[in-house]
This record gives sequence, C-alpha cells and structure tokens, in this order.
Amino acid sequence: MDTDALKTAARMLRDARRIVVFTGAGISTESGIPDFRSPGGIWSQYNPDDLTYQKFRSHERYRKLYWEYDRARYPPMRDAMPNAAHQAVVEIEKTGRLLALITQNIDGLHLKAGNSPDKIYELHGTVREVTCLDCNARWPREEITDMMDREGIEVPHCPHCGGPLKCATIAFGQSLPADVLQEAFVHARACDLFITIGSSLVVQPACFLPLDAKRGGASLILANLDATPYDQYMDVVLKGKAGEVMDALMKQHRLLQGEVDAR
Ligand code: APR
Ligand code: ZN
Repeated sequence: MDTDALKTAARMLRDARRIVVFTGAGISTESGIPDFRSPGGIWSQYNPDDLTYQKFRSHERYRKLYWEYDRARYPPMRDAMPNAAHQAVVEIEKTGRLLALITQNIDGLHLKAGNSPDKIYELHGTVREVTCLDCNARWPREEITDMMDREGIEVPHCPHCGGPLKCATIAFGQSLPADVLQEAFVHARACDLFITIGSSLVVQPACFLPLDAKRGGASLILANLDATPYDQYMDVVLKGKAGEVMDALMKQHRLLQGEVDAR
C-alpha cells in the first residue's frame, strides 16, 4: 500500500469538517457478496439486458426471470456481515463530521454495521423490501417471499391492486428515487471531503457525484481495487482491498488525532 498516499488521505480526513462517503459493490465483496463488473461478477452470470425495468414490465417471463435472479442473489446478502471497510465508515460517522453516506448498494450492510439510517442514502433501493409497481404499496421482503414459497407462486402480484410486485431495488431503466437522489447531490456539493469506496464509477447519475463534489470545492479520495474513469480527478487514490485500505486509513487517522489531542 502506498504509505505516502495513506498519510495524505489521513491528513485530509483529520482536517475535513463535512465528509460524504460514497460506496459501491466493491465495499461488500469481502463480505461475500459479488460485485457486478469484476471477473465472475453478477453481470458475468446474468445478462443485464434481460433484467431491465422495461423488460420486467413487458412480459410475465421476464418477471419470472427477474424474481429468479433476485432470489438467487439474496441469500449471500441476507447472511453477509459487515467487513472492516463498513466499520471504518461507522468510525467516520462517529467523528461527528459525516454529512451523508450515499450508497449504490442494496445489501443493507451499512445499516447492519451501525451507520445511522438518517445518514444513509440508498440510491438504488433495497433488497429488504418488496414494492408494487402500480400502487407503491411496500412489504418487508420475507412477507412476500414466504407467501411465494407457501403458495408456489413464481411471479407475485399485489393483493390490493393486482399490479406486479418487485423487490424494492432500482433496475436499469427505472428512475431513481428523486428525493434521495436530489439530497445526495446537495450533500455532495456541500462537503469538503468526498470519499468513494468500491465503485467502478460507470453507472449514471451516481458516477457524477464525485465530480460534483469537486466542483463544490471538496477533496476527493478513492479507495478501489481497479482503475476508474475518474482516477485522474481524485486527490488521493488508495489502490487495494477496501477492508485493508480503510482499516489502514482509520489507524493513520487515529494516530494524527492523537497528536492533535496531545497538543
Ligand atoms: N476492495 C476494493 N475495491 C473492490 C473490491 C474490494 N474488495 N472488490 C471489488 N472492488 C472494486 C472493483 O475494482 C470495481 O471497480 O469495486 C468496483 C465494483 O464495481 P461494480 O461491480 O461496477 O459495482 P458498482 O460500481 O457498485 O456498480 C454500480 O451498477 O449494475 C449496477 O445497480 C448496480 O449499484 C450497481 C451499479
Ligand atoms: Zn398494488
């Protein structure tokens, strides 16, 4: 690990007053949840073109495919435990300087790790609930999937309006929750430090958040295994596994804080 980059990032973290953390699937791979675009990731097992919102709406056979995909990916998410990178984000919130934790992840691991629900912005929804696409009714996930298992249903419909039920995640082609997205961008523009952890930064509009933060005057830190299209805009790139990198960053930050407190 590049210790100079780590020390620079730790100094930025010590000096920041308004921090935003932005995470992608790469923060959860060490918890046993595959990401999307790394070798062996989800998009190498399923064709994303078959899993769009438009396809889901168009025909029962796509709704059946989507539910099969969703139910296959759920158990690792249900059983996963937060890793050191999630714990590092909790520690950042405990400094009292976290404005927002914006995540593209649907696995709920930031909540499980202990971050405050009112700080978390789930841009791509959550697997923990099921919603009706027509009347927006919502249920805890298990209530619907248990019913599906009990009654041998492969494609559930809304008991209120007959509309199609889908897990409350945002599929390609589906609009993101406008209020969540808008607030996420407001926080990104207001922060003085924007930390991206485990994202390929290829999916819009979320991938524009770091640049918006930079335009607002923030410093940018990226903790990621692979290169992204935005590496050139980052003030510090911490290449490596999120758990190790974020653990080392927080250790360095505690050292610097100790120096501050000792003064
Ligand atoms: N530590 C650090 N980085 C990692 C690790 C790890 N242990 N594992 C994977 N990564 C990095 C990869 O190098 C990659 O750049 O995390 C990134 C994951 O990228 P994607 O798989 O594209 O995931 P993400 O950026 O979250 O995708 C955004 O795309 O398909 C949609 O809705 C889906 O929310 C998702 C969105
Ligand atoms: Zn309904």
